[in-house]
Amino acid sequence: MSTHLDASASVSLSPTGDPWLFTPGPLTTSPEVKQAMLHDYGSRDQHFIEINRRVRERLVDLAGDPTTHVCVPLQGSGTFVVEAMLGTFVPRAGKVRILINGAYGKRMAKMCAVMGRATAIQETPEDVPVDPEALDRALAADPDITHVAAVHCETTSGILNPIEAVAVVTARHGRGFLIDAMSAFGAVPLDAREVSFDAVVASSNKCLEGTPGLGFCLARGEVLAKTEGNSHSLCLDLHDQYVSMEKNGQWRFTPPTHCILAFDQALDEFEAEGGVAGRGGRYRENCRILVEGMRALGFQTLLPDALQAPIIVTFHMPADPRFQFEAFYEGLRGRGYIIYPGKLTVAESFRIGCIGHLGASEMRGALDAVEDLLSEMGVENCAPTAA
Ligand SMILES: Cc1ncc(COP(=O)(O)O)c(C=O)c1O
Repeated sequence: MSTHLDASASVSLSPTGDPWLFTPGPLTTSPEVKQAMLHDYGSRDQHFIEINRRVRERLVDLAGDPTTHVCVPLQGSGTFVVEAMLGTFVPRAGKVRILINGAYGKRMAKMCAVMGRATAIQETPEDVPVDPEALDRALAADPDITHVAAVHCETTSGILNPIEAVAVVTARHGRGFLIDAMSAFGAVPLDAREVSFDAVVASSNKCLEGTPGLGFCLARGEVLAKTEGNSHSLCLDLHDQYVSMEKNGQWRFTPPTHCILAFDQALDEFEAEGGVAGRGGRYRENCRILVEGMRALGFQTLLPDALQAPIIVTFHMPADPRFQFEAFYEGLRGRGYIIYPGKLTVAESFRIGCIGHLGASEMRGALDAVEDLLSEMGVENCAPTAA
């Protein structure tokens, strides 16, 4: 099996010979998660149906309240299930207040435009959390707004949005709350007993460390039951997907069988690590090592520590002309570490993730590779263009 790289003494590789992914997904998975996919199942196989049921139950438990919430899985990447959530929960005559501070909030607005759902946009800069007080005023002023949609960790910058405060305001006004928790779910607490929401979506391949290919929606059962006929789409209709799956445990269309087997194994590992507390604890430690190490090398983070989610960190691009991002990226890749370009509109930046099957030694390995590379590139000052 090819490793994509010419292994040499200075190259660090994962146990399966791949570079480490310091990205927000696809991300590095454990050897056992990959191993779990080495089986073929028919979609009607009782054993497969049982695994599917178990995965859904564990995801509901993870959201806190199996008496009120249900799990609807959906084929595809995370974007598919975000679009499915908006299309299923927001009626065609509904109106969504979308709280935007990055690309994923903007994507929800684009989805609503494509689907023909009315929106009211509330945007803050990429390094500023969404504003629950402005939401409060907007909901008081506009009775047509039926739903509020927000992103938990906006992966564009790595900022943690105040989802609890947004939920309180939304519930007080009696509107439905829809959360894109794609990059935070499983590592940042989100408990249905404490945070009121109609639906939250995430995917198999972020903090739960499965493989890409599956999204899921955790929905308040009594709200989902009233969404029949809302969806503009057959494939993305979560009501239909749920009702059909409840009948016989089968998927409406070909299930991502291998991805579900991997996800079941990933959930075993998640539970063994201590659930949200354990997984979140490892990622916080990864994030701390990364931020401290990069700051020691002279890099500056976009966000102050208080706003930083332990998921992905945005660093300002150094102003030194000897620092060329492409060369930096390729140099790190050659040493076994894949990082991520920036997605900000406000500043030149790049990002390094802290999630996936990575721990302290991988974080330190990546920092050593950065230091080595800076000296090879002759970069002495990592201060950014924009302070
Ligand atoms: C917050 C958030 N929402 C949605 C998505 C889209 O997920 P995907 O790229 O799997 O379609 C991502 C991907 O990183 C994300 O971080």
